[in-house]
Amino acid sequence: MGTSATWATYRGSIGDRSPMFDAIAGGWPVRDALYPGSYLDISPSLSGVAVTYVDTDRRAVRYFADDDLVGSDLLVRSGAHPPAVTFLGMDYTEALPLAPASFDLLISLFAGPVWDHCQTYLRPGGLLLANTSHGDACVAALDPRTTLLAAVHHRDGRYRLDTEDLGQYLVPKDARANDVDSIRRSGRGIAYTRPAFAYLFTYHPVASSGPTGAMKP
Ligand SMILES: C[S@@+](CC[C@H](N)C(=O)[O-])C[C@H]1O[C@@H](n2cnc3c(N)ncnc32)[C@H](O)[C@@H]1O
Repeated sequence: MGTSATWATYRGSIGDRSPMFDAIAGGWPVRDALYPGSYLDISPSLSGVAVTYVDTDRRAVRYFADDDLVGSDLLVRSGAHPPAVTFLGMDYTEALPLAPASFDLLISLFAGPVWDHCQTYLRPGGLLLANTSHGDACVAALDPRTTLLAAVHHRDGRYRLDTEDLGQYLVPKDARANDVDSIRRSGRGIAYTRPAFAYLFTYHPVASSGPTGAMKP
């Protein structure tokens, strides 16, 4: 068995995303976040947010079981009062032991169809942070219950949230590809004319789908 994977080793490959979460938590009220398919990315916790992580990977299970290790990783930023860290070593496509509508922020980064499976845990008015890697941001963008709040840009290790001229984002290069069913089938995002690292949406569920059937089952 090799050296255990940790946030410190994983950060070496993906970088530290905590400035992105600082910017989100600085702009919107975020107390509780849900991060399905997190692997070892504890960057949202470094921003002082209480986070529930979900992953089936045994390296993540092993890491999150080591309270001292996670605690020492968090001490880098949070000092004496680290935020709550909860880990579920579970498949996020199955029912999770979480209350519906109980999270302010749902995080979907490089981890599959999180939006489809976990939106039920997001409170009305809550936030979805998603990228296009597995098509999740593209599916969310076509959901009439979401509104784009910001595009997140990532360059040279820095993150910037663009909240201006949002109409320039999520414009497909090929309008025919902008179809929920084909995006879900392919499990891949589509190309936009102005790409971004990720997109921040707000979620406003409606009471009924009405005659147009706009809501998903
Ligand atoms: C490519 S990694 C991305 C990790 C992290 N989100 C990031 O952006 O660096 C995808 C992670 O999602 C997890 N994952 C994929 N599908 C999952 C599922 N259905 N339930 C739980 N975890 C899942 C994998 O185990 C893996 O750790």
